[in-house]
Amino acid sequence: MPNRKLVAGNWKMHGTAAGIAEIVRIASAVPPEVDVALCLPATLIERAARAVPSFAIGAQDVHSEAGGAFTGDVCAAQLHDAGASIVIVGHSERRDLHREDDAVVRSKAAAALVAGLRVILCVGETLEVRDAGEAIATVTAQLDASLPPAPVEAVAYEPIWAIGTGRIPSLEDIGAMHAALRGRLVAAHGDRGHSVRLLYGGSVKPANAAAIFAVSDVDGALVGGASLTASDFLPIVEAAAQA
Ligand code: PGA
Repeated sequence: MPNRKLVAGNWKMHGTAAGIAEIVRIASAVPPEVDVALCLPATLIERAARAVPSFAIGAQDVHSEAGGAFTGDVCAAQLHDAGASIVIVGHSERRDLHREDDAVVRSKAAAALVAGLRVILCVGETLEVRDAGEAIATVTAQLDASLPPAPVEAVAYEPIWAIGTGRIPSLEDIGAMHAALRGRLVAAHGDRGHSVRLLYGGSVKPANAAAIFAVSDVDGALVGGASLTASDFLPIVEAAAQA
């Protein structure tokens, strides 16, 4: 049986209190057939969770330690306490700009799971790796090294060259990557690996969402720019509901 679709928005470093109205618009229009979450800047999590208590609010990063002298960081228990139920780890912007390697990502994912947060673990290749024909080998190795011992909620395949660029891989390439990732999840977790949702991320828009969701082993999407407004995000959610 196919997995229920999950559409997660990633607001990145966008949004202030004025954005709460948009979050309410999105949360109040989610169809019952699909799971939806919004991963917000840490400053908005508590306000959003109060505004839409039955909707999944998430974070975009978490520290690997349970607390301590880590100026500027936020631990999993604090996110949970603020009202987050889900967290992104290993986004390529964290891996690249904050030098987070697979071992760091793995420990962040494990810490989030211990605190009761659902985890969206991101992997993806550069354009150079894709052009060299090494995308599947590279991304599956990244997944193997980033996976915590217990199953995560979702793995997001996000080609770095597709993020924020308007370009996406061919549907065949998405399907081949997701099949390979599914194989690695089953190798790691046995049958349970089938129920880890595989999201595609990178320039998902209303115009391409239905085609992406029709690809085998695509169980949803991680959406950046198009998650910022209800008018862009809800058609993507609707496409997932109808897939
Ligand atoms: P994008 O971002 O949808 O704006 O390409 C996706 C992401 O970085 O998660």
